[in-house]
Amino acid sequence: MALTVVPSPLPSPPDTGSPPAIPVSATLAANEALDARRRRGEPVLPLAFGEAGLPAHRVLRTALARAAGFTAYGPVAGHPELREAAACYWSRRGLPTEAGSVVAGPGSKALLYSLMAAIGGDVALTRPSWVSYAAQASLAGRKAHFVRGNGGVPDAGQLARTVTSARADGRRIRSVVVTLPDNPTGLLAPAAAVRALCAVAREHDLIIISDEIYRDLVHDPDAAFTSPAAVCPERTVITTGLSKNLALGGWRLGVARLPAGGIGPELRARLLGIGSEIWSAPAGPVQQAAALAFTEPPALAERVALSRRLHGTVARAVARRFAAAGASVPAPQAAFYLWPDFSPLADVLLARHGITSDEGLAAVLLRDYGVGVLPGSAFGEESGRLRLRVATSLLYGESDPERHAALNAADPCSLPWIAASLDRLAEVLAGLAGG
Ligand SMILES: Cc1ncc(COP(=O)(O)O)c(C=O)c1O
Repeated sequence: MALTVVPSPLPSPPDTGSPPAIPVSATLAANEALDARRRRGEPVLPLAFGEAGLPAHRVLRTALARAAGFTAYGPVAGHPELREAAACYWSRRGLPTEAGSVVAGPGSKALLYSLMAAIGGDVALTRPSWVSYAAQASLAGRKAHFVRGNGGVPDAGQLARTVTSARADGRRIRSVVVTLPDNPTGLLAPAAAVRALCAVAREHDLIIISDEIYRDLVHDPDAAFTSPAAVCPERTVITTGLSKNLALGGWRLGVARLPAGGIGPELRARLLGIGSEIWSAPAGPVQQAAALAFTEPPALAERVALSRRLHGTVARAVARRFAAAGASVPAPQAAFYLWPDFSPLADVLLARHGITSDEGLAAVLLRDYGVGVLPGSAFGEESGRLRLRVATSLLYGESDPERHAALNAADPCSLPWIAASLDRLAEVLAGLAGG
């Protein structure tokens, strides 16, 4: 039986002193290094940046152009029609939602940071988890505690132990971030892991921040999806956006779904306070286009379905190249990420390249082969484990016609530009491993 059902009130924000120095996000930094190589005319294989790599749908471009006249700042929480559409989006997924529980922001990233700042206390994160959570916690003056987990959800037993031992050290972990489905692993945590996490969250009075930005990109559209908001709605905040399912990263639009009662109103007030002082409101025209997107008209639902199919097909093809070279790779279940483990090749990597760490491996791939990937340690993983985070979505093409062709192809891996990238990857990995 749950010990605490209603989350306790939010603590007052601490005096955090001087701000920590945060380097440019690892993903953006790798992307810049690849761009520099490209400008020098050197071959590159861009597998670092987690951008969806697809064109904006025509329906959305038109909606955005039509909304150019929305020049007013508008409400901090977002236009009412956007909040209503986002509420219906969640309601259609079995999570009844009122527009009043929705807060929009300029990307879910800004909302995630603001949530950590607004909730207070320390933050528990999964090891591994998306690069920005730990950096954001630090920026918000929060201590991050990594807990080993799988598919974006920390192991419940380890989370409970971490909360207890932090408390013994005088620290209060107040929130836990989960990623469903997950970046960097490309996996979707099973319902049992989510339920176990929720039980610990109740017992230890944690607020769950559930980042569900990849929810609509689970490769198997019939796969069961359990949001913590379905299990403990009173203490779960969901964030999502349009950057991944509709490939609109540059439009910068995210939404948060707060608990309807309990801590919800206070959290909303704090979130709006932060938003009002930092971004004022999301861009007006983008909100109008996003309102349309969240109603999921058939043309956009079809686009998401095609994207899901493409992401799955290419991710699996890339995974096969890594496996053929001797790395161990969990089969991707969602989005466009792989999490290959090079430890089976540790001896040969050391002997041939002097590689002892994931950073060393990523550096050799970039310097000697023009392959951009991210080291697992950027995601909180131990460096010696030789894990990489591979993003496969920038292989779809360099122009909109190529990307459209990839979206519509029954066999995208046979398109010449994707086939060439797959061949090049196989060649690089064979070369790296001494084949
Ligand atoms: C897990 C995760 N959450 C959030 C984001 C950022 O989303 P947005 O573009 O809505 O800020 C990303 C982008 O890479 C991500 O991978």
